[in-house]
Amino acid sequence: MLIDTFGRVATDLRVSLTDRCNLRCAYCMPPEGLEWLPSDEQLTDDEVVRVVRVAVDLGVDEVRFTGGEPLLRRGLVDIVRRTAQLTPRPHLSLTTNGIGLARTAAALREAGLDRVNVSLDTIDPEKFKTLARRDRLEDVLAGLEAAASAGLTPVKVNAVLMRGLNDDEAVPLLRWCVDHGYQLRFIEQMPLDAQHGWQRTNMVTADEILERLAEAFTLTPLGAEARGSAPAEEWYVDGGPGRVGVIGSVSRPFCGACDRVRLTADGQIRNCLFAREETDLRAALRSGCDDARIADMLKATLLAKRAGHGIDDEGFLQPTRPMSAIGG
Ligand code: 5AD
Ligand code: SF4
Repeated sequence: MLIDTFGRVATDLRVSLTDRCNLRCAYCMPPEGLEWLPSDEQLTDDEVVRVVRVAVDLGVDEVRFTGGEPLLRRGLVDIVRRTAQLTPRPHLSLTTNGIGLARTAAALREAGLDRVNVSLDTIDPEKFKTLARRDRLEDVLAGLEAAASAGLTPVKVNAVLMRGLNDDEAVPLLRWCVDHGYQLRFIEQMPLDAQHGWQRTNMVTADEILERLAEAFTLTPLGAEARGSAPAEEWYVDGGPGRVGVIGSVSRPFCGACDRVRLTADGQIRNCLFAREETDLRAALRSGCDDARIADMLKATLLAKRAGHGIDDEGFLQPTRPMSAIGG
């Protein structure tokens, strides 16, 4: 088992398959993009599948592929197929910006993918262009539709609100998602932007989002038992079945129930988004280590997991790597 000193058990492995992206969301990247990892520093498909297999042997039952933008990874369908063949078969999901999903949703489903989370922060094409710095809203909407018709359901939508950019989008976005049968979740903006421009005082908080939603909808809590280790607190919208989640990562931290562990595209194990240290699994893999060594490194990394992200602590240091390099 992957257990830490606080008794939390890691069962959810987040695997970043690339640090590249075809968008430049303001809360993540600068307009000019970042310096991408050289390809020889990225884990190969075989290496990724091997680490996932060892993690599954250690009790991981849920694997989420992320990035950067994981649809940019050439071997994605094959990686999904191979991880779907592991025993016990883990639950498989993908966090994507949706660009290109229209072309690949059916193949991903066929390969064994269970679900997708699509990032969408506005349904206004102009705001999309400003926030994501690319005119690609149509592609994202087509991707969402394809995911739903391929059966990658429930289709979840992740939205981050930024003051002055899309903070007036909470209500229209939720209305649109409910009408289309997508489950919307708002995520508080975390200090994970490459530009290090995040400010606590400028963040659109979970309370604020809920206030805005309550002006337009009747929200009924799903109940704490439904939350489990899931970070989203959820509400039925106007009596259901539509629902909405709010992930107060900063103002309502859920670190005490965290069941996650992360593998970066360049083969580093991270026990937290905000971890200060990484464990270099890639070096071990490439020096010919056996599976037992991989398992030991995973276990040791989990044992060093801190109680919480500490964003509100004095002396908090934002991770040097942004979300796109860590994996969402
Ligand atoms: N804060 C909160 N969420 C973020 N994401 C990317 N950067 C941040 C951030 N700084 C979201 C993306 C995507 C998921 C992987 O994380 O929008 O939905
Ligand atoms: Fe790309 Fe996701 Fe970062 Fe947006 S948040 S730039 S979609 S990696």
